[in-house]
Amino acid sequence: MIDIHSHILPGVDDGAKTLEESIAMCKIAEADGITTIVATPHSMNGLYINKKETVCRKVIEFNQILKKEKININILPGLDLHFYPELLFHLKNGKILTLNNRGCYLIVEFPEVISPHIESICFNLQIQGVIPIISHPERNYFFRKNLQVLQGFVDRGALVQVTAMSITGGFGKEAEKAVKNFLKKNLVHIIATDAHSVNRRPPLLSPAVKVAAEIVGEKQAWAMVTTIPERIINQKRA
Ligand SMILES: [Fe+2]
Repeated sequence: MIDIHSHILPGVDDGAKTLEESIAMCKIAEADGITTIVATPHSMNGLYINKKETVCRKVIEFNQILKKEKININILPGLDLHFYPELLFHLKNGKILTLNNRGCYLIVEFPEVISPHIESICFNLQIQGVIPIISHPERNYFFRKNLQVLQGFVDRGALVQVTAMSITGGFGKEAEKAVKNFLKKNLVHIIATDAHSVNRRPPLLSPAVKVAAEIVGEKQAWAMVTTIPERIINQKRA
């Protein structure tokens, strides 16, 4: 399986605090059947910036450590980017790290109020050839209450990534109800862990896949953690 959203890099945000914790998280992921993890530290959320060059360098260093530890996980670079108005401008200037640094897909977390202006910036992203992946809308009050807005983004070509623990109930009843409704309405493309730690939010995908399979069927649920993310990291249309 491939996990496209994880705070696995040590000491760069509120995810893994130490290298030891990052390694322990990778061992949990490996045991769950995960082979590739996109390291997506928070960026532009008011607390963390995490520049492109720094993330890419830290990913190379961490892969070398995993190799020495004989942990069979490949780490790729990415960002968990919080939406901000200058996003489009910075993207054009090459300052934004897209998934696997190949320029095609970008994980974006939206604010709690989504204005037509935000929708138009997102549409412009797509004109620039970048497909936004909407990060965990089931945890966003606005998307929970305005399903038609999420449907609109999807109709215009955006992808939707939900958090594994939302599906298994770890983010409360509201998020669980919303994510199951999104699954029923075919609004989900990818399940990712958004892992932050060994205990609080561990890097596990398979428990969520089992629950999702009851709603969308085995084949589609597994595609959300295998073939679809594979196409994304290889920059093919998902
Ligand atoms: Fe995240």
